[in-house]
Amino acid sequence: MSDLHQSNRRLWNEWSDEFQAIWRSDTDEDELPPAPSPFAEDAPGGAQPQILDGIEGKAYVELGCGGGQGSVGTAELGADPVVGVDFSGDQLQYARELRDEYGVDAQFVQGDVTDLPLPDDRFDVASSEAAFQMVPAIDRAFAEAHRVLREGGVFVFSVMHPLHEALDPETRTLEESYVDAGPREIEIREEYEELLTVFDRPVAELHNGLVDAGFEVRRLLEHHNHEVEQNEPEESDSPDVMWEIPQSVRFWAVAR
Ligand SMILES: C[S@@+](CC[C@H](N)C(=O)[O-])C[C@H]1O[C@@H](n2cnc3c(N)ncnc32)[C@H](O)[C@@H]1O
Repeated sequence: MSDLHQSNRRLWNEWSDEFQAIWRSDTDEDELPPAPSPFAEDAPGGAQPQILDGIEGKAYVELGCGGGQGSVGTAELGADPVVGVDFSGDQLQYARELRDEYGVDAQFVQGDVTDLPLPDDRFDVASSEAAFQMVPAIDRAFAEAHRVLREGGVFVFSVMHPLHEALDPETRTLEESYVDAGPREIEIREEYEELLTVFDRPVAELHNGLVDAGFEVRRLLEHHNHEVEQNEPEESDSPDVMWEIPQSVRFWAVAR
């Protein structure tokens, strides 16, 4: 594992308690915390492409699963078996707790998305949400996603939109180049030992990386954040430019 991987992993172990508390911040004691699946009808981005013939009974893996919300939500929809992979042991601990709260079957495995501890051709469906932007060798992560999917398997892949990351909403100017952004270091908390390193890759680079790994990209969604999707602009405190740019980019691709 490279130095950068290791420092990102340590950062995620440090940040995990606080990050997972955010997921649970609106949950009353007698409620289950949210576990949204990328295969739910109300997944971000509006109507989802008709590429997958349902998730029920499909072998599913989530890459960079964090607190397991996507894996647990997808297990609730009937995917079987369900495996979540993350390199942070602390995040995985939360994922296992969430699985037990929901009472679904899901296995959570510690591993790096660039070197998955999983066999070839094992899964019908894979997804990854907000994780690959932290991976320096994204081509290896795409190759691994392809390796563990069977021929014709579906990969739903999403990261923060690079334009959203480059834009300063207050000044409406770009803080970094869209076409040539280098690695960006983010201080999550002053008291944390590590910085988080992310890569704001242009959409074309993500698309071409998937194609080079052997995927046929079937659909691309650029969607707003939930607040923007669910509210009228005048009901929000967000700067109005947030209504004019997507928050995330999501690919639906098929392994060839
Ligand atoms: C922003 S969280 C997203 C988690 C989850 N997908 C979600 O939507 O809440 C990013 C996750 O990616 C994981 N991650 C980052 N780089 C990774 C790598 N190279 N291999 C495995 N997991 C990684 C982190 O540990 C973290 O749990």
